[in-house]
Amino acid sequence: MSIRTICCIGAGYVGGPTMAVIADRCPGIQVTVVDLNQARIDAWNDPDLSKLPVYEPGLDAVVGRCRGRNLHFSTAVEPAIAAADMVFLSVNTPTKTKGVGAGQASDLRWIEASARQVAACAQGHTIVVEKSTLPVRTAETVQAILSAAQGDGASGSSPKTFAVLSNPEFLAEGTAIPDLEQPDRVLIGGDDPAAIEALAGVYGQWVPSDRILRTNLWSSELSKLTANAFLAQRISSINSIAALCEATGADVQEVAHAIGADSRIGGKFLKAGPGFGGSCFQKDILNLVYLCGHYGLHEVAAYWQSVVDLNGWQQHRIARLVVQRLFGTVTGKRIAVLGFAFKADTNDTREAPAIRICQDLLEEGAQLAIHDPKVSEAQIAADLGENLGDGWQRVATPVQAAEGADALLILTEWHDYVELDWRALAAVMRKPSWLFDARNIANAAQARAAGLQVWSVGCG
Ligand SMILES: NC(=O)c1ccc[n+]([C@@H]2O[C@H](COP(=O)([O-])OP(=O)(O)OC[C@H]3O[C@@H](n4cnc5c(N)ncnc54)[C@H](O)[C@@H]3O)[C@@H](O)[C@H]2O)c1
Repeated sequence: MSIRTICCIGAGYVGGPTMAVIADRCPGIQVTVVDLNQARIDAWNDPDLSKLPVYEPGLDAVVGRCRGRNLHFSTAVEPAIAAADMVFLSVNTPTKTKGVGAGQASDLRWIEASARQVAACAQGHTIVVEKSTLPVRTAETVQAILSAAQGDGASGSSPKTFAVLSNPEFLAEGTAIPDLEQPDRVLIGGDDPAAIEALAGVYGQWVPSDRILRTNLWSSELSKLTANAFLAQRISSINSIAALCEATGADVQEVAHAIGADSRIGGKFLKAGPGFGGSCFQKDILNLVYLCGHYGLHEVAAYWQSVVDLNGWQQHRIARLVVQRLFGTVTGKRIAVLGFAFKADTNDTREAPAIRICQDLLEEGAQLAIHDPKVSEAQIAADLGENLGDGWQRVATPVQAAEGADALLILTEWHDYVELDWRALAAVMRKPSWLFDARNIANAAQARAAGLQVWSVGCG
């Protein structure tokens, strides 16, 4: 079966960029991305490509090429499902906040709602593709919902039939477009060979065939959780060593380089920092912890839980360390915070380390001047919450942030912060002034030469 029409439910950080690249690489397929959120769809349709709701380098060009040609964004969910040969489920799956499994299990209400919508609106044969990250055996639930509708057909039309595939997304925010255009691998899990080949045929239009991996459904679902758990584990591992470096006089960048040169370990993802953020790592590991607990594997659950615990510890450690170096109190002191997004090249702040660190400092009474090239004031306000009041303001430039500040705290590795003019910053700060570089990206020698005292993560 060759696919001519695709519908994607969910126009978020995954659905938007993924479908834009499919439309770009498959001009013969009509792709419609639908979402219930009218404001988000309006932003995807904004004639000004700098207003797209997701910031990703290169995304604007891809959307500019395809939108209106074979890429469409709409809130009309039902007709888009009805017209589709293949429906991707790319809705959010956050950690449950209440009920059984609260704080660990994924909340599957949006997956269930979208599966029910597909069951109600699909026509003829439809391949349903799980693109969201899901707990192992979720495909069974999706299949059960679809099976209940199977065989129904509007009078005169052919009866409904479904096949379910798992096709987790491995893109990283900030590099989503190159990740989608040249993926290390595409994973397709399923037990219906015709459906698997139909989806492989879509990716095959730009991905080399040896990079398209076929597995059973459960391996595919588990591989995505495992990939995120292993990546997050590397971050927690290097951050644990960073703390030991600071205590012993070692330098975590030297240690990371030395161990990364070992081909069995590899050099990637060994940068010490303020801990991992983003919507996925914590949620997916907690989900793994929940699954392990469910199957009675309590030691395995505790092993992965420690990766999450260490991440929170690192964030509190950095906030505490700032307070200690500023003579044990930050009450009424101005601190310039550079970077709020969870990493560079994205406007996403979900689970950003900056949130916890800023909250800790606000609770200590600090006045924060926050700069980020892509994160809006409204987003920062939503993340910091109302309880912490007006102890912070968003400013337009790093120099404005530094004015009258006792310390400058770098929390996101935006390229703009690599080349800061330390003399200009030192000139407007209150003395003695500090640089706290939680990303190891600033030129520490220049900052010292300009008169600042410097702490860089992992440098003893
Ligand atoms: N963000 C990432 O880097 C990343 C990477 C790989 C996988 N994932 C996974 O992909 C999934 C989506 O993540 P995201 O970051 O794109 O989330 P997101 O919150 O940015 O987007 C999800 C969208 O789905 C929409 N939606 C929810 N229910 C709907 C319904 N019934 N009908 C229509 N629209 C509906 C929401 O309005 C929202 O706009 C998650 O499972 C996530 O774990 C995310």
